[in-house]
Amino acid sequence: MRQTMEPSDLCGKVRELALETGRFIKKEQEQLSLPDIRSKGLHNFVTTVDTGAERMIVDGLTGLLPGSGFIAEEGTGNRKAGRFNWIIDPIDGTTNFIHGQPPYAISIALADGDEIVLGVVYEVCLDECYYAWKGSQAFLNGKIIHVSNTGKVSQSLIATGFPYTNFEYIRGFMQSFKYFLHHSHGLRRLGSAATDIAYVACGRFEAFYEYGLQAWDVAAASLILRQAGGIVGDFSGGDNWLYGQEIVACNAGIYDEFLDIINQIMVQEKILIE
Ligand code: 2AM
Ligand code: CA
Repeated sequence: MRQTMEPSDLCGKVRELALETGRFIKKEQEQLSLPDIRSKGLHNFVTTVDTGAERMIVDGLTGLLPGSGFIAEEGTGNRKAGRFNWIIDPIDGTTNFIHGQPPYAISIALADGDEIVLGVVYEVCLDECYYAWKGSQAFLNGKIIHVSNTGKVSQSLIATGFPYTNFEYIRGFMQSFKYFLHHSHGLRRLGSAATDIAYVACGRFEAFYEYGLQAWDVAAASLILRQAGGIVGDFSGGDNWLYGQEIVACNAGIYDEFLDIINQIMVQEKILIE
């Protein structure tokens, strides 16, 4: 199978699909009721809207790139193809969505082999669509975005996500709170990793870190961040952030300092502050 459409055109079609699915999600949120919500495990929910939205996305993408595979959070059409695979989260921030609390986002990435080549993150509540493809600039609703040029952690606003099922690194995680409360402009927890990373891409946050995430939570936003001048890595500065369940996503100016702090606290389990 070959990709025949220009990447910019393909990205335009994916954005249209994300916006259409976003309208469905918004409408459904207003009439969501308890029977629509199912628990997948401890603190892990899925709604009929997640599965309905994922169906819309998979159907739409199948027409755009016939023969491509799917890795989707709720399992719709899951089948890995040889070259092109879509990595999809129909609602990133489902817990927020259930409670009618912003933000939540649709996340759609295209992988060519192991490389992410296209990313669209549509944050439904603020109607903000972030996107980029390999070699492009990064955009928010048609405007070029960049990471911030802040060069010090002490002058940064940091985002993270709380552990919900995996409490293995909770001690280090609590240490990281202490550290950033004392040594940054503050810590935020929005509840949607795709949105957090998109916010780093457009300069609202300087850095984001979390462990326990899946590829569909981070794939699209990480490409957008890179195309906006940011850096993505795992907690040891390596490349295992997509499937490795630990991610640091930063502006370029604080990356070295931030990574060093995360590595000392989370990997080496050092106590940097009592
Ligand atoms: P999700 O809403 O698609 O599940 C918030 O810290 C991030 O963690 C979100 O990207 C969220 O994505 C992800 N996450 C995965 N499993 C979760 C869970 N059980 N509870 C809350 N967030 C979860
Ligand atoms: Ca989800």
